[in-house]
Amino acid sequence: MLKVAMFGAGGMGTNHARAYARMPGVAVVGVMDHNRDAADRLADAVGARGFTSAGEMFDTISFDIVDVCVPTPWHAEYVCLAAEREVAGIVVEKPMGRTIEDCDRMIEACQRRKIPLFPAHVLRFFPEFAAARRQVDSGVIGDVASVRTRRGGPFPRAWENWYGKPSLSGGVILDLIIHDFDWLRWTFGEVDRVFARCLSAGKHEVDKDYALVTLRFRSGVVGHVEGTWADPGGFKVGIEVAGREGLIELNFNQPASPAFTAAISGPVGAGPGVAVPENPTAESPYYLELEHFISSIRSGTPPAITAEDGRAAVQIAAAALESAETGRPVHIV
Ligand SMILES: NC(=O)c1ccc[n+]([C@@H]2O[C@H](COP(=O)([O-])OP(=O)(O)OC[C@H]3O[C@@H](n4cnc5c(N)ncnc54)[C@H](O)[C@@H]3O)[C@@H](O)[C@H]2O)c1
Repeated sequence: MLKVAMFGAGGMGTNHARAYARMPGVAVVGVMDHNRDAADRLADAVGARGFTSAGEMFDTISFDIVDVCVPTPWHAEYVCLAAEREVAGIVVEKPMGRTIEDCDRMIEACQRRKIPLFPAHVLRFFPEFAAARRQVDSGVIGDVASVRTRRGGPFPRAWENWYGKPSLSGGVILDLIIHDFDWLRWTFGEVDRVFARCLSAGKHEVDKDYALVTLRFRSGVVGHVEGTWADPGGFKVGIEVAGREGLIELNFNQPASPAFTAAISGPVGAGPGVAVPENPTAESPYYLELEHFISSIRSGTPPAITAEDGRAAVQIAAAALESAETGRPVHIV
């Protein structure tokens, strides 16, 4: 039995804990959250114990895996604490860190103890995104010239309105379209130049956000990445890859739910959380990504997504944030 200790009992913590709870040979044994009610509620739902302090959880229970689903600025703190306990593996939600320096701290702490650190870039487990990458790789559309992605929906409402504070969440660039940055880098290789415009750039607090980011890949491919937290009409995802021999197009439009429509005009904190794309396939991509990590720990093989991949996605986002603030293109070295 692999035992999991969770940090964060909000939207993603609940999603991960429920996935582990139905995974054969895996049990959630502890849930830590600053909010006592949230920790206990999720712990009760999955048969674990709730805690409000990391030290108390670590000293009270035995565990093999740590999964960090607190808001992004606190990822590094809990990943580094977990690394001191010599666990078998650590999962950290995307974006891996608020800054590149945070990512470097986590990588260093985990490398020192040879602990696999898995940034949860779930898009790689959405079958349509994996299939689009396979098609690009197979050469069926020939040499790629350009790729466009679009992602977004209503403004996310969560703990202390942290998504509305760009200093914490990084806005749509760091929090949302980092999904696309990871998929694009996985599919088209390294990025060398970034230019971005973003509504939340330099702002203290926002109630909507929008960004348009242009990427130039080392291969010469040009990427055009759009992200929005200003669309109350439901979560939408789209990609279009243009090659010399053909076009790959994918569009997913989730209808607006009445709960989200109400939450958009309601007070912060009253909403149902964060819209995430759904998938009509037999198994949730969120389950598949965690199952992949668990089986990599069992077999002792490296997981398909490395901590360096998580850092590289944060680096693209950091360059886009810098470009949006300065109005200038930023080169990634
Ligand atoms: N992969 C995806 O599709 C996806 C979707 C949503 C969120 N996320 C990521 O998951 C992470 C969590 O986001 P969320 O939407 O679940 O947030 P949330 O606001 O729903 O939940 C955060 C929880 O963490 C608790 N918390 C806050 N600070 C804490 C701290 N320092 N120590 C302990 N507990 C603390 C809060 O009480 C709350 O229960 C973020 O990094 C976010 O970017 C990923």
